[in-house]
Amino acid sequence: MNSPRLKTVLSMQPSPEPVTVCGWVRTRRESKGLCFLEINDGSAVESLQVVIDLRADGLAEETPRAGTGASVEVRGTLAASPGTGQAVELQALSLRVIGEAPPESYPLQKKRHSFEFLRGIAHLRPRTNTFGALMRVRNGLAAGIHAFFQERGFVWVHTPIITTSDAEGAGELFQVTTLPLERLPLADGRIDYARDFFGKRAGLTVSGQLEAEALALALRDVYTFGPAFRAENSNTSRHLAEFWMVEPEMAFCDLAGDMDVAEAFIKFILRWVLDRCPLDMELFDRWIEPGILATLRKVVETPFVRITYAEAIDALGKAQASFEYPASWGADLQSEHEKHLTEKVFQGPVIVTDYPKAIKAFYMKLNDDGKTVRGMDVLVPRLGEIIGGSEREADAEKLRARIREAGLDERDYSWYLDLRRYGSAPHAGFGLGFERLVQYVTGMANIRDVIPFPRAVGSAEF
Ligand code: 4AD
Ligand code: MG
Repeated sequence: MNSPRLKTVLSMQPSPEPVTVCGWVRTRRESKGLCFLEINDGSAVESLQVVIDLRADGLAEETPRAGTGASVEVRGTLAASPGTGQAVELQALSLRVIGEAPPESYPLQKKRHSFEFLRGIAHLRPRTNTFGALMRVRNGLAAGIHAFFQERGFVWVHTPIITTSDAEGAGELFQVTTLPLERLPLADGRIDYARDFFGKRAGLTVSGQLEAEALALALRDVYTFGPAFRAENSNTSRHLAEFWMVEPEMAFCDLAGDMDVAEAFIKFILRWVLDRCPLDMELFDRWIEPGILATLRKVVETPFVRITYAEAIDALGKAQASFEYPASWGADLQSEHEKHLTEKVFQGPVIVTDYPKAIKAFYMKLNDDGKTVRGMDVLVPRLGEIIGGSEREADAEKLRARIREAGLDERDYSWYLDLRRYGSAPHAGFGLGFERLVQYVTGMANIRDVIPFPRAVGSAEF
């Protein structure tokens, strides 16, 4: 079996030379002794129309088994299609059903299904148009991310999945252990982690940032692109328990440089995906979020608004909107606030900087006012925060104080403090939530619909 992909076949010229194509039947209909199969192999958003003459030898017997969902191999000739929406169609010479899909049980019978229904059949939903397009756009974005950093000389580094440091200090680690849960070994009445697999308490990483800092303070500009895990009890359309994150980290860089890279990065990958996935993006523009193509094109052309947290609180205070949570200095920005700023006030991406230290992670550089930190969030319409980043605290003593203030155990971060003891340098970085980026680009409303097999609180099917 060595048939060309449908994407290739769809761009071929009509010819009497037979070709063989493989794919899954999307729809079938019969009329006047002919059977029309739409077949698709996931290589393109468009399907290939196969025309079968039911009076021809051998075709009438096999065709009834080629129902919706079946996998088929068709040999035929490409002819100019009289129908609209396709350049060529395949006139079948022979048909082989490879795997049947019994109509009484195959779940994807209708032309359109709700996303909620499809979430329950995550193993079959990649065969729908929307999920096919989504997976190809996701792939395009991933390639664009690597292209951006590789073109700029960043080194892709691989930080650990299993870790013994809580990078965000927020206590959201999934624990990794081989201790017998029904009979935990105790020492002085507490769990004896010395007898655990690693000899100490370990978990799945929430972020590769701390390790990326060690690498940036040796290689200058690095980035990670890998999975992150958070046991946060957030049952929202923007949170997953397992998601992918892109984290650049740059030595000899401050907050302004960090924001410049973040803005250039988003614009680069938007342009990349608009250029390379035009047909898939058209699907989202047509069916999911009308106008998204024009919006993204405008984002690429327009400088991002940059304001401080204090200015954001000011703007929110002036707003007539009635928020569920009041926006006052010291409180974290809620997603309703982020939406108001990006959708109503500025109508586009906004970078907010200099948040109060109490609502941000311990590693962010303290400003001279002693109250705010050199952090930044990139907020976008519909989603709110898509990037979180900062200049890092480069002073060992200040960092030690912040670790203590945050209620963390300084001994767990001694290696991290070493980075400030030996050849410390200003450095900065940020984290982009990859699934939120996919949501932003495609307009998909629920984050569980932009990753093949979502894991969220209370749900980990497959
Ligand atoms: O703002 P966060 O928590 O920042 C960090 O993890 C830093 N260590 C990044 C850095 O400076 N290197 O997370 C970064 C981004 C968020 O802006 C969001 O887009 C995404 O990661 N994110 C999530 N995406 C999906 N589900 C979740 N539960 C997420 N938590 C964060
Ligand atoms: Mg954040």
